[in-house]
Order: sequence, then C-alpha cells, then structure tokens
Amino acid sequence: MSDTLIREREGAVAVLVLNRPDKLNALNQELISALLAAVQELDADEGVRACVLTGAGDRAFAAGADIAAMAEMSTTDARLFSELGHRAGAAMEAAHFPIVGAVNGFALGGGCELAMACDFLYACEKAKFGQPEVSLAVIPGFGGTQRLARRVGIGRAREICYTGEVIGAEEALRVGLVNRVVSAAELLGAAKATAQKIASMGPRAVASCKRVMLRGEDVPLTVAHELEMQAFGGLFGTADQREGMRAFLEKRKASFVGR
Ligand code: COA
Repeated sequence: MSDTLIREREGAVAVLVLNRPDKLNALNQELISALLAAVQELDADEGVRACVLTGAGDRAFAAGADIAAMAEMSTTDARLFSELGHRAGAAMEAAHFPIVGAVNGFALGGGCELAMACDFLYACEKAKFGQPEVSLAVIPGFGGTQRLARRVGIGRAREICYTGEVIGAEEALRVGLVNRVVSAAELLGAAKATAQKIASMGPRAVASCKRVMLRGEDVPLTVAHELEMQAFGGLFGTADQREGMRAFLEKRKASFVGR
C-alpha cells in the first residue's frame, strides 16, 4: 500500500489524507492511483457511509499535479495522466458515500480539481484555490474546466482559468466554492462532524440523493425530475424507510441498517 495516501476509519466514516507534505501534497501518479484504489475499495464496503478527504501538514490540501513529474511528459503520457486524474474524480463522484473535502491550505490546479470532485468543501481561513495551469502554458486536466463552472458559474470560472488567479477562502465562500470557512484547528473536526451526521442518516437514501443530484446536472430538467421520482419511489418498502417513518411517529431515534 502506498504511503502517499493515509487511510483512517472512524466508525462509518473513512478519512483519506493526501500525504506528500514536503511537496505540498503534489499529485503524482502514485498518489492519484492510491486515491483511486482507496475510493474504489471503500465503495465496495457498504459499511462506509461518508468520507473526509484532506491534505497532510498545515500548508496544503494539494498544490497541484506534480510539475516535476509532468515537465518531460509526452503528449501521450500527459493524456494518460489526465485520464488517471479524471478516473479518480469520477470514482469519487460514483462512490455511494458523500465525500467532504477539508481544504487545509493550497488547493491549486489538480488539488482544486480533486477538491471539486468532493461533494462539498469546508476550508480553513488560509486556504487558497486556483487553476494556475495557464501560467505553465497548459490547462486544467483533472476536470477543472467543467467542474469549476458548475460550482461558481461560467463567468467566474473563465476568469479564474484564463488568468490563473488564486482566490482566498472568503472569496471561495462568497462564490460558493466552499460551504464553510473555519479555523485550521477546527477544520478536520468540522468536516468529520458533518460526515458523522451524514453517516447517521438512511444510507440508501443518502446514496440515492447523491446519485440523483449528480446525474441530474447532466440531463435535461424533465429527465432529472424523472430520476428523482424513480429514486423516491424506489426507497419505499425498504426496511430503513419503514424504520425511519415509524421511529418519527413513535417519537424515538431511528436505527438504520442500510436495507
Ligand atoms: N508540483 C511539484 N512540486 C510542488 C508543487 C507542484 N505542483 N507545488 C509545490 N511543490 C514543491 C516545491 O517544488 C517545493 O519542493 P522542494 O522543497 O523540493 O523545492 C515544495 O513543494 C514546497 O513548495 P515551495 O514552492 O517551496 O513553497 P512556497 O511556499 O514558496 O510556494 C506555492 C507555495 C503553492 C505558491 C508554490 O509551491 C506553487 O506555486 N506551486 C505550484 C502551483 C501550481 O502551479 N499548481 C498547478 C500545477 S498544474
């Protein structure tokens, strides 16, 4: 197992830590492959109900794809590297559990792109976001040209991608890139607390909600509404739906089994 990714487990919550702090957690092939494998393994484990993704050290979530590794890449190498980053992002989005990104510093380039493959983000006050690839004469390659626009709107996304502008946590909050800004000391605890709260909900409902909200972005609204109706109906008759509604009526806390 690669030591570039730390894997922890707190009950139903998995915690993944990008771990190359001396390189500001720059994303090389080994680290992205480890992340992809970890997310796929966690996805196969029904006991995982939420995940937190963060970076090791106190400076970076990830300061981008590894520039040293990319510097001499051929066109084919670069295309394959981009595909690997896309596979990791796609696996994060396809996973049955939500992923809360805890952005503990720089989230630049591929780091910002991986963050945006999380379901939503919390950030510490000194977090910085950006897609500075044009300053290296390339473009975002792990989904940034598309995911940033979906998060902050096409105009602001174009401005950030064309200028390489780096924005701080408060601006990221203002444009909707992050949900919450807290102190560095509080960040991981806040992300874990939210993940634990998600993990206490009906697991199939959370997975279904994630799937419908994600797929709904890529289809016409009428189709998205149809997806919602299908998924809503599909949850009725499950043990958890019965338990959740019975527990409400009996004024007690529900106990879900994921069925
Ligand atoms: N790829 C490879 N190595 C990186 C890296 C990246 N994206 N980002 C940082 N590092 C490495 C540095 O090379 C340095 O390694 P060294 O100590 O062996 O020289 C180490 O991480 C610390 O970074 P450093 O640049 O010395 O820190 P800083 O505080 O002066 O600057 C940043 C921090 C984030 C502003 C700066 O590292 C930076 O601009 N990184 C690249 C950001 C980027 O363009 N990302 C998009 C890539 S597509």
